[in-house]
Amino acid sequence: MSGIDILGTGHYVPENRLSNDDLSKMVKTNDEWIFPRTGIKTRHISKTENTSELAYQAAKKAIENSGIDKSDIGFIIVATCSADNIMPSVACMLLDRLDLNNQHVMAFDLNAACTGFVYALSVANALLATRPDKCAVVIGAEVFSKLLDYTDRSTCILFGDGAGAVVVKYCASAKFYQVISSKGNTDALRIPGVPFYDCTEPSYCTMNGQEVFKFAVEYPSYSMQEVLDHLGYTMKDIHYVLFHQANARIVASVSKRMKIRQEQLYMNIEEYGNTSAASIAIMLDEMNQKGLLKKGMKLLLVGFGAGLTWGTIYLEW
Ligand code: UT7
Repeated sequence: MSGIDILGTGHYVPENRLSNDDLSKMVKTNDEWIFPRTGIKTRHISKTENTSELAYQAAKKAIENSGIDKSDIGFIIVATCSADNIMPSVACMLLDRLDLNNQHVMAFDLNAACTGFVYALSVANALLATRPDKCAVVIGAEVFSKLLDYTDRSTCILFGDGAGAVVVKYCASAKFYQVISSKGNTDALRIPGVPFYDCTEPSYCTMNGQEVFKFAVEYPSYSMQEVLDHLGYTMKDIHYVLFHQANARIVASVSKRMKIRQEQLYMNIEEYGNTSAASIAIMLDEMNQKGLLKKGMKLLLVGFGAGLTWGTIYLEW
């Protein structure tokens, strides 16, 4: 079995915070409703910085943290559904700023909504096997706030902005296994794109919260179980589960179902809300900076989101 080594991590969030109390002045809601149902107290909301800026700051930190030479970078993959432009990609926008324009870099964005970072890491794993001499910078970055209707209390309370990044390299002795999947559903969670033909729809996020909740408790669990079964492990063998931070109640329900102990979870939803494709990457960097991750630790990275998309990656730190 071969896989990838995570050489460095970084994350960046805008300074500006939006608390539940702040939101209660904008829509008919309050902390008493939001916190018990979601686990969210506050989120970071960009005032002027776009997705490429957040991605750049996170990538810069991850590259510094990895200690690699920039000439080793062969791939930049940005998982996002809130890119600055439809084209060029956020990944291409980073080339200039990271001073990578004078070397061969395959740079592209990937949209798998909140599962984006899991998808991007899986793609990086496959690409690096073809170029074991190169590193990939894999970034999850979102300014989701620009896609929200701040008069819709059922969605605007959930999401926040942020970016996380990792630098990864092929490793012949690394263990990596994934079960990643998708199914077409445009009703549960959707943000319309460029208006086509006689379109009167606003370009905001709409969601069937209960449908997404049920899906989130069920499907990611299947992928976790399939990964564990393939590797011959039980949940007890896993050191940490990095479960997409969409709602603390979803994590609690999945934990009960999958017998994940509290100490196996890392949670930061209270501070950031749901940062979509950035969520797992931000967790990885925070855990790394706090010294929680020790060599050889067994991790499950679990994502789910619009598409519908979901998946679990097993890797060792
Ligand atoms: O990455 C994936 C992203 N999406 C998710 O993870 C979403 C998953 N779903 C959820 O997290 C939950 O469904 C929500 C937190 C979004 C909603 O919780 P819920 O317990 O499913 O509430 P609900 O939609 O059934 O609404 C219950 C009531 C409704 O009022 P009525 O019709 O019973 O009078 C809503 O209008 O709560 C009302 N409500 C609110 N009240 C105060 C909905 N949002 C709010 C709010 N503040 N922010």
